[in-house]
Formats: sequence, C-alpha cells, structure tokens
Amino acid sequence: MKKIALLFSFISFYNFAQQTAKPTGLTATKAMVVSARQEASKVGTEIIQKGGNAFDAMVATELALAVAYPYAGNLGGGGFMVYRKSNGEVGSLDYREKAPLAASKDMFLDKDGNVIKGKSTATALAIGVPGTIAGVFAVHKKLGSMPMSEILKPVIALAERGVIVTKKQEKRLQDYHDAIVKVNGPNTLLAGNFKENDTIKYPALANTLKRISKNGRNEFYKGETGKILVKYIQKKGGIITLKDLEKYEAKWRKPLQFNYKDLKITSMSPPSSGGICLAQIMKMIAPYDLSKMGHNTEESIQVIVEAERRAYADRSQFLGDPDFVKIPINGLLSDAYLKDRMSSFDVNKASLSSEIKEGKVNFNESTETTHYSIVDAQGNAVAATTTLNDGYGSKYYCDELGFFLNNEMDDFSAKPGSPNMFGLVGNEANSIAPQKRMLSSMTPTIVEKNGKLFIVVGSPGGSTIITSVLQAILNVYEYNLSMQDAVNAPRFHHQWLPDLITFEPNAFDKITIDKLKAKGYLINEKTTPVIGKLDCILVLPDNTLEGGADFRGDDTAVGF
Ligand code: DON
Repeated sequence: MKKIALLFSFISFYNFAQQTAKPTGLTATKAMVVSARQEASKVGTEIIQKGGNAFDAMVATELALAVAYPYAGNLGGGGFMVYRKSNGEVGSLDYREKAPLAASKDMFLDKDGNVIKGKSTATALAIGVPGTIAGVFAVHKKLGSMPMSEILKPVIALAERGVIVTKKQEKRLQDYHDAIVKVNGPNTLLAGNFKENDTIKYPALANTLKRISKNGRNEFYKGETGKILVKYIQKKGGIITLKDLEKYEAKWRKPLQFNYKDLKITSMSPPSSGGICLAQIMKMIAPYDLSKMGHNTEESIQVIVEAERRAYADRSQFLGDPDFVKIPINGLLSDAYLKDRMSSFDVNKASLSSEIKEGKVNFNESTETTHYSIVDAQGNAVAATTTLNDGYGSKYYCDELGFFLNNEMDDFSAKPGSPNMFGLVGNEANSIAPQKRMLSSMTPTIVEKNGKLFIVVGSPGGSTIITSVLQAILNVYEYNLSMQDAVNAPRFHHQWLPDLITFEPNAFDKITIDKLKAKGYLINEKTTPVIGKLDCILVLPDNTLEGGADFRGDDTAVGF
C-alpha cells in the first residue's frame, strides 16, 4: 500500500515536473512588462496600475524605449505587434517601414550590377519610411482605453528627466561613437563622451512627443515634425518626401497561427518571415521526441538545425511583402510538404545547404531591434518587436527632433543571392519596389496551452530572432525550464546560408560540438555573437506571471 502511494506521489510529482518548473525570474500576480530597459518596463507597468490595459501599456512602453533605449527603440523605425485579448481574440499590426516612392530595384547596385558596399546600410538612402507613430496610434484607436495624452505624460517626463547610462550602454555609445559623429557631426546629442551613471536628457525628443500628444498622429506624417524630418533626410541625401509620409499607413494583418503538439501559436505573418519560419521549423521537428533527446544535446541540435536549414532556404525564395508578391503560405505549411522536406534528413550526417535549395511548393493558394512583452490585469497580452535595423539604425540622428532613423532598406534583397548585413540572401520576392515593405525576421509570438495564455515571447537579433523564439518556447515546453532559465540557456542558430551552426561562445559542451563536426556540420567558431535577447512572460498554472528578462542586455521585468 505504502509502495503504491509512493508510486502515485512519484507519478504526480513527475507530471507536475513535466508541466511547470519553479519560477526563477520575477513573479507577479496581476500584470507585467518585460523590456530592454527598466525605465520602459516601469512606464508600461505604471500605465496598467493607473487603470490602463495592455494596449495603453504597449504605446507607453514602445515610446519609452525610444527615450531610454535609442539603440533600437525608436520614432524613426517600425515594427510588428501581436496580441491576444483575454477573451481569446487575436490580431496583429504591421507598422513596418516602407520603401520610398522614389526607390528602385537597383538603387544599391553599381553600373555593372554589383552591390555597392554600405549604400543600403550607411547612407540616407538606407532609410525606410518610418511606421512607429502610425503603429502606436493604430493600436490606441482600436484597442486602447486611456487618453493618449495621459499615456504620453510619463514618457515625456522621462525624456525631460533623462535616463541614466548603464555599463552596457556606455560601451555601445563608445563602439558607435565614430559612426554617429561621421554622419551627424561632433555636436550631435549622443556624441557626448557619456559614462556609466551619467544622465542623458532628451529635450528635443520631449518636444517632439509633446507636439504629437497635442496634434496626434498627423503631426508626424503631415505636420511640423514631418516637414522637419523630410528636410533633414533630404539634406543628408535621402529620397523620402512629404508624400511618402502622408501615404504611410500601419496595417492590421491576420496573424499566422499553427499548432505544435497541444500548443496553439500565434505569430507575425508576412512581411515578417517570423511566423512562417517558426511554423515550418516547429512542424518539421514535431515528430521527434526532443525532450527525450535532451536539452542542447547532439541529437536535438541536429534535428533543430536541419529544420532551420530547410525553413530559411524557403524564406529566401518565397517570402516578401504580401501586398506585392504572392506567398504560397498553405503550401509552405502543409504537413505533407514539410514531412517530405525532412525526408532527406540523415541522422548520421549533415545535410549540405548547397544541396537543399527551396522546396517545390504548390502555388494553388486560395544587428538592432528590441522586443517587449506585456500581460495586463485582465489577461490581455501584447508581444511587440520594433527596430531601426542596425544598432542606432542608419546612425542619422535628427537633432532637431531627437531621434535616429532606420536603415531598414538593407532588409530588402539588393540583388538576388547577395547577402544582407545578417548574411541572409533573398530573391525576387524581396526585391525593392516603391511603397513595398522589406522582409523581416521579427517574431513577436503568443503561445496558448489548452486554450489559456501560456507564453508571450520575442527577441531582437536579425536572422537569429526566429531561432531564439523557437528555443525559448522549446526550453519551457520540451525541456521544462522556468521562463527565466529558458531565456538564460545558451542558444545556437542555423540559417541555411552561410552553411554554419553558430553557438553562443563557451556555452556548449565541446564533446557535443566535436560529435556534430564528425557528422559533417560546419561550426562558426570565428565570431562570438550573442544570439537573440529574449524578453518573455510565462503564465504559471496558478496564473502567476513569471518574467524572463535577458541578462545579455539591461533587460528587466517589472510587475505587480
Ligand atoms: O526586421 C528584421 O528582421 C531586422 N531589421 C531586425 C534587425 C535586428 O534584429 C537587429 N538586432 N540585432
């Protein structure tokens, strides 16, 4: 009898252990915001404390990041937002930048058709028409509950009060100092030789936000701010006009939804590749028992890498702005297609990217970014990823307005097969055209389990965003890590081309890496990159929220 009781208690402990790990990150019972800076998480959380919902907090957090994290937070960039309301309704907003009207397919090529190095990243031609202000106003109009002026108040106060420089920020400002001065001159705000614990005030940005608070969305797209912005960009040799700003609209899109075992996953549809790639990878790995294979073991790394290789090959061929190209989404996500795609996987030896290419799909169809996750007191959830593309974007900083401009034009495929700054290659589907949106990897994602909110997740990291989001979900679901441990765990990445597995440095077992090498896997041993920077929230069975804030940055969870 005793034995049976013991057995039962073991079984129930085992089941429990399979479901939830003890939280190791910040926990809160009502609401939480996790973002790249404590100041932004705090502004967002306080909006909820004042009675706002997750969407009001989204507006506040997005713009507080523009103040506190100019490296990626922005008014001069764009992003994607995925939401799930407490009643289960889901949706997503595309506030991605667009190519200006005067852009052209070959604008980054020389007369011989070769890509001109740096033209799509470090000139004013790299700037796409910004979408962030249109984005936050669209969210507010459809889903917000507090007056915009109330939401903007603490953001403006933060810009006026200033933000304390962290150790990591000091290093970033040093690393990018020369590039920022090169295009803006020595008197630009962030050229100052800032040290840890200094306070940087942003009075020009505060004034811009005050005008936006007073005059609304059109202040940025049709008003004084827009005019100053266009004048600045053109003076620097850019081609964005007032007409480009006037024509810009954020777009509500149907999110990409799929199932993985008993999870239902809602992520971003094109023009982000995030949702489709994540779905392809997860559907390809679903038949394998990853939890039995173990976390970051040779076997599990192999399965995941081979699925990643195949998904990124399809990304390169088929994905682009759905307003311009037809994407065979059903074909790319069909079970039969993905099963066939993995049929060439040989557990004894690495596949070669040179032999993989994209699959045959049936067309009959009916380096910086930032992510934040929010859950409010009603259980509404927001996952939003926003970017200037590179760190400080194009480095062009409009001192009069107080913000950096993106270099998102580099996310287009300047020439078929020619890699962008993330080494990603693309094709006709992602070629440049006026008004087109460049393909993205941003993957704001919301996971449900048994019809209940489970994980809110996302990351920066260019091409590594998708594989970081994947690993965060698998670490919780397959490997039973707490949310914070899932974020902390070392990550790896494969993106088809270049045909390399990149591992976070000094974090993986040498024997595992040697075994992979012996099977023919090529390992990226040269660079020591950080793969993603995850900010997530896990809902525990008793509805407590656990934050996962990435230690790789200054990321912080705040909740109550
Ligand atoms: O949209 C994209 O995929 C890229 N512009 C994201 C850039 C990024 O994540 C840089 N961060 N390290």
